[in-house]
Amino acid sequence: MLKIRVNTLKPGMKLGKDIFTYDGKLLLAKGTVIAEEHLKSFANRGISEVYIMEASPQVRTTKKFEEAFDDSLDLVKSFMLEAKLGQSLDHKEIEASVEVLQQQVFSVNDIFKHLRLMKDKDDYLFTHSVNVSLLSILIGRWLKCEEGIIKKLGMAGMLHDIGKVYISSDILNKPGKLTPEEFEEIKKHPILGYNFLMQSEDIDDDVARAVLMHHERLDGSGYPMGVRGKINFFASVVAVADVYDAVTSNRTYAGKLSPYAAADILWEESFGKLDPKIVKVFYDRVANFYVGNEVVLSNNKRGVVVYVHQTQPTRPIVMVGENEFINLAEEPDLAIVEVLD
Ligand SMILES: [Fe+2]
Ligand SMILES: [Fe+2]
Repeated sequence: MLKIRVNTLKPGMKLGKDIFTYDGKLLLAKGTVIAEEHLKSFANRGISEVYIMEASPQVRTTKKFEEAFDDSLDLVKSFMLEAKLGQSLDHKEIEASVEVLQQQVFSVNDIFKHLRLMKDKDDYLFTHSVNVSLLSILIGRWLKCEEGIIKKLGMAGMLHDIGKVYISSDILNKPGKLTPEEFEEIKKHPILGYNFLMQSEDIDDDVARAVLMHHERLDGSGYPMGVRGKINFFASVVAVADVYDAVTSNRTYAGKLSPYAAADILWEESFGKLDPKIVKVFYDRVANFYVGNEVVLSNNKRGVVVYVHQTQPTRPIVMVGENEFINLAEEPDLAIVEVLD
């Protein structure tokens, strides 16, 4: 049996427990198949959560993931607001939330699909923080890091942009290109975040350094310090997760790119900017996630990804009709512009 919120209840699900009215009368019996009119009646009666019988394992994982995601989102919102008001961080609470996300990355095998479904749930800064946390955990798993390290990666991902709460929302949400002065303001967020974290008790040094350095690049082109060469491992992982989530999201100043285009951007950045070892593991795995998925090509044709070349994972073979295949490895002018759910 599973407790779910009424706003995520779908017609066809079966009730797992009797529902009574406030004065004790049976409203709906266990086993009732939910219909559209029930949903309205729940809303009218102020019923916010019900028990349903467990359907397929897929429904169960999706729900659990969404709940974990929503809980983390609520936490991110509250600690960011508190940070803005000058209150220090409840380190333990964030750690507990990251542990729940760690479990999700273990139990959900199509994490990218789940992440796509969660996009646009809330303000970009909040969902982005949860996404970068999840992606950093995922990369840690792929790199076979131990769980303690992975937890720190998740913390670093969740906190990486906390300094943005001190930047004017007019600049953060500006549609269109920033002026050089506005970009200078944005560039302060790693230091502002780091300074805030250093005031909190028990903050882990690796986590704080990742927050400070997540925009540094190996060739010295990053900020805030423009360090060249050695970048903290935690910052390097968060940087890859951050770039991937940023370019695959709808932001105020740019439309979102497909995961394939995002993986190609990461690949280009791995020559001199991002850690090539981390990008490589990400690049190889991301493209393989979409075998069997429906996609849209730049010529507007729809098709299904049927084969991934190991040497060029972002240029797979796509079946666009019965017995019609397009091998993107041999069609340089074509690209996958969208992945459909
Ligand atoms: Fe950032
Ligand atoms: Fe970010």
